[in-house]
Amino acid sequence: MNWTMTAIAAAALLAACGGGSSNTAAVDQSALVAQGRQIFRFDTFGDEALWTDTLRIHEVISAAVDPVTALSVGLKVDAEALPAAVVEGIKNGSVDLKSPATTLALLKLDAVVGVKGTVQTVNGKDALVSVGITCALCHSTVDNSFAPGIGKRLDGWANRDLNPGAIIALSPALTTAMKAVYNSWGKGKFDPRHNVDGGNKPVVIPPAFGLDGIHRITLTGDGEDLAYWNRYVSVAEMGGLGSVVEPRLNLSITHGTVDLVTSKLPALQAYQLSLSAPAAVAGSFDASAALRGKIVFESNGKCASCHSGASFTDANSTLHPPADSMAEPETPSYASRSATKQYRTSPLRGAWQHAPYFHDGSAATLDDVARTYNTRRSLGLSAQEVSDLAQYLKSL
Ligand code: HEC
Ligand code: HEC
Repeated sequence: MNWTMTAIAAAALLAACGGGSSNTAAVDQSALVAQGRQIFRFDTFGDEALWTDTLRIHEVISAAVDPVTALSVGLKVDAEALPAAVVEGIKNGSVDLKSPATTLALLKLDAVVGVKGTVQTVNGKDALVSVGITCALCHSTVDNSFAPGIGKRLDGWANRDLNPGAIIALSPALTTAMKAVYNSWGKGKFDPRHNVDGGNKPVVIPPAFGLDGIHRITLTGDGEDLAYWNRYVSVAEMGGLGSVVEPRLNLSITHGTVDLVTSKLPALQAYQLSLSAPAAVAGSFDASAALRGKIVFESNGKCASCHSGASFTDANSTLHPPADSMAEPETPSYASRSATKQYRTSPLRGAWQHAPYFHDGSAATLDDVARTYNTRRSLGLSAQEVSDLAQYLKSL
């Protein structure tokens, strides 16, 4: 839309809504968010250059990845994208979940969360000619309402079932040694710096929700806004077409000759900022214990000194030295590979959604987190206080 058209559209909206610039702003904002949702779910930024041309993942999918296998590496299926006939076929067994052809059919429907396939008819048969990935691969899951791994999309939720390393390792273009590296990462983890510094130590996939108002993005607070990291990931990790320059990491990457990233960043960011952390499910924690745990959190647990404010983080004012992370010391230190060399205090809203905890996933549960702090920081909390603290964390 050009400027004149925008102005006309805005004037029309003003007339329709009875005036008021806040109405127009709200309409513009919701249009931006809707656009960002499309990008988050379906845009590959041209990363087929990596996943198809280089890694040849489309060949593996066509030959060997049936839906059962796909679900077993943590891929999710969007039930809302399935036509009634397919739903019926899955229920009555006439759709063969052990056939790669079914995976192609699902890709054709845009039903595999975070995987974008182009299916064309070649000699009367469906063929997968290219495949790419989107942000939703790692940062969306489904509510399992249809079957395990099949349900409504939950955007922004960390997919901790996903094993990105195992998926990359399927590529016929990799050496045995490279495959061994990717296969060592395990589910729910990914090393977003491996492509850049050659290091090999994955971190947990974090949620992309609950970040509104936080101006230090990533576990190490590398960027001041989401767009910073979204650019890094789409180019350096996903293999999208565009550029990322980060002098602090001595990094400068350009893929291709067109930029399919920059123009999408404002909408993509707006969408993520619209995703609030999901409230804890009623009954998933003990409410009276959580009330007692809140007091521990704010008093003898000393948690609120760092986990402060509405999002439970002091990120906007401070980053912390590696020793403040309960996952340190580790070799190599994840912080040492980042732009800041420090850690951000993790926001805690919706923490119940994404076990395990700390950047390396070393605490399996929120109870483990509470126990670890009590021991490592010699807090002297009683067993009851540790357990109450964990209930509070589960309630956030
Ligand atoms: C292969 C899995 C994967 C894909 C695909 C992926 N991410 Fe991530 N994302 C990660 C991991 C792992 C981290 C943790 C890195 C860190 O914070 O140091 C991360 C971090 C983030 C963060 C920081 C969250 C915070 O708490 O500050 C945001 C936001 C994010 N990703 C958004 C995106 C967007 C948008 C896309 C698509 C352009 C994307 N990611 C694609 C795995 C992925
Ligand atoms: C000195 C600052 C500081 C204090 C005090 C502190 N934390 Fe943290 N917290 C951090 C940092 C930094 C991280 C990120 C560590 C990492 O990922 O390696 C973190 C991570 C966490 C996480 C993991 C979140 C996730 O997404 O994986 C939880 C839960 C948590 N803290 C709870 C607590 C509790 C409970 C207390 C009090 C007993 C506490 N913290 C005290 C700084 C602090």
